Order: sequence, then structure tokens, then C-alpha cells
Amino acid sequence: MGRRCTLWLTFGALLFSTQWLDVISSTIDRSSEESYEDNAKVIKSIEQDSLDFFSNEKSNEDTSVEHEDEDHDFDILIFTQQWPVTTCYHWREEDSTHACVLPEKKEFWTIHGVWPTKLGHMGPSFCNKSADFDLDQLDQILANLKTYWPTIDGQQKLGYFWKHEWLKHGTCAASLEELDNELKYFQRGLAWREQYLMSNILGSAGIHPDSNSTVIALQRAIVQSLGKNPSIHCVYDNKRDMSYLEEIRICFTKQFELTDCDGVLPGDAVPIVYPGGTVITNCHISKPIHYPSNVPPTIRRMEKKWRFPVVNAFKLVQFIMWFTL
Ligand SMILES: *[C@@H]1O[C@H](CO)[C@@H](O)[C@H](O)[C@H]1NC(C)=O
Ligand SMILES: *[C@@H]1O[C@H](CO)[C@@H](O)[C@H](O)[C@H]1NC(C)=O
Repeated sequence: MGRRCTLWLTFGALLFSTQWLDVISSTIDRSSEESYEDNAKVIKSIEQDSLDFFSNEKSNEDTSVEHEDEDHDFDILIFTQQWPVTTCYHWREEDSTHACVLPEKKEFWTIHGVWPTKLGHMGPSFCNKSADFDLDQLDQILANLKTYWPTIDGQQKLGYFWKHEWLKHGTCAASLEELDNELKYFQRGLAWREQYLMSNILGSAGIHPDSNSTVIALQRAIVQSLGKNPSIHCVYDNKRDMSYLEEIRICFTKQFELTDCDGVLPGDAVPIVYPGGTVITNCHISKPIHYPSNVPPTIRRMEKKWRFPVVNAFKLVQFIMWFTL
């Protein structure tokens, strides 16, 4: 009886999530192509811009600028760490002229951003149109920013990435007194990285670069360590048919306490229910996730290579059926 119940519940959840997948997967390719054309000054495409297809869908609402300007409310802060090796690979594969600069240290996660987010919505973003970015305000933490919050894109001039993060996300976070200037905002990211360093969290579960893990193992490692549900992001290389771990996001309340990322409009990620939990991810649920120690060599491009992983609904059904039996 109990098992049967679980099976049906899982099945229901699965149908729900795969339907959702179908809806969004058709828009994913389109939006990722758009971001190629986007001159991609920062590797921002991997950030919330990969989620932009949701705003594309709702483009009618985008015209209601007044409404958007008024509603800068948010519920949580997403803190995103990236695996620079994958970011670099992604960046180089997008365009062979792209170069990247990687941290010298091994097993070294870097910061992508601190993003105020309203549950069930994108953003808010660009909350203060009159704000500007002043690199001088970050003088005292400049060395740390260069080390822990670096631009992977080797062609950008210093500060470009931080400027983007500040104007898009920082100006919204600034409604909290604790984050109301550049220095406080970037210091917060640095402090969180130190406290919640992903290499430590994964390492304590025995997950190190070059081990092949699954997204469920990754999620379990994080839940075990933090007690909260993260969101886990991969890029999928269809030339190699491999998923690479790229970002792990953890969530905080406005009181700066850890919280589950459940309820965050996940963009290209979807909540997938499996017996034992829900994993919010765009990674392939039943295949190994590569956490590479080195940037894989480029394969000559014959066709557009990067696509977001679209979970094959049939395989997913099989996997979950198998899992629950
Ligand atoms: C927007 O930015 C400007 C320039 O930094 C600042 O003077 C102003 O107080 C900010 N407005 C809000 C609402 O934070
Ligand atoms: C991980 O998978 C890759 C590709 O399938 C393989 O080359 C590598 O040996 C695997 N690593 C481990 C530690 O199993």
C-alpha cells in the first residue's frame, strides 16, 4: 500500500514536471541562441539570462514598465558559486575567439553572484536606474574580488563583471540596509563563499573534480551539509553527450539565514521529484555529471553545440519507475 502510494505520487509529480519540461524545452533553444547573439560581454548568459525565456514568454508584461519599476520586492537572496572550469569550457565553445582566465588554484570555486529573487518570479533586476558603478568603492576588497569573484572572460577589462552584477542585482539588494552599498554587497558574497565553499561541501561527501557523480548525489551532499535544498546547474555538450557541472546556487532569507531554494522560479532548471526528495536542476537526472578538473579540449564545431539539457521524458519515466521498485 505504502509503496504503491509513493509510486503513484511520484508518477503524478513526474507527469507534472515532464509536462512543464516540454513547455519550456521548446523555448530553451531559442533563448540560448539569442544569448549567443547577445554580445555576451560577461558570461552572463549562464546566469539568469539563461532564464530569460520566461520573460520572453511574458514579453507583454515587459511593456508595463511602471509596474516593473514599482515592484522591487523580493523574498530571498540566491548565492551562486560557479565551477570556473566548466564556465570556461562553455565560454570557449560558444565562440572560438573567446579566451578565459582560470584561477591558479585547483578545486577552486568562484562566485557568480548574489541575486535578490521574488519567489515564483524572475528578479527583480536593475532596481535603480540612476545608480552607477564605482570601482573605487571596492578598493579595500579588490584583491579578494579578483581572486574569488573573477571574470572568467579573459578579454574584459577590470570591473566589468562586478559592474554588471551590481547594476542588475546589487541595486535591488540595496533595499536591505546590510547590502546598501557596493562594498557591503560584494563583501557579503565573499563572506558567503568562505562560509559555504562548495569544494568543502562536496569534498566532505567525497565528491572531487573528475569524480563522476549524479545530480542526486550532489544534492544529497549539499543537503547533508547545509540542511537546505540548493539548485544545481549543468551545461550539456551534445557533441560529447555529457553534462558538466557549472553552478550551484544556495538560498538565504532577507535575514541572511540559509533557506531552501524551493519556490524559486528556476528557469532552465525544474524541480524533479524522486523518492527521497526534490532536486531543482537542469542536469540530466539519470546520467553522470562531470565535474572536470581541466577544461576539456575543444571539439571542432560542426553545428551548434550547446543546448540546455532537455530531460528525455521517457527515460525519466523509466528511471523513476526503476528507482521506486
Ligand atoms: C539610486 O542610486 C543613486 C546613485 O547612487 C542614489 O543616490 C539613490 O539613493 C539610489 N536610490 C535608491 C532608491 O536606492
Ligand atoms: C568519468 O567519466 C569519464 C567519461 O565517461 C571517464 O573518462 C572517467 O574515467 C570517469 N572517471 C571516473 C573517476 O570514473
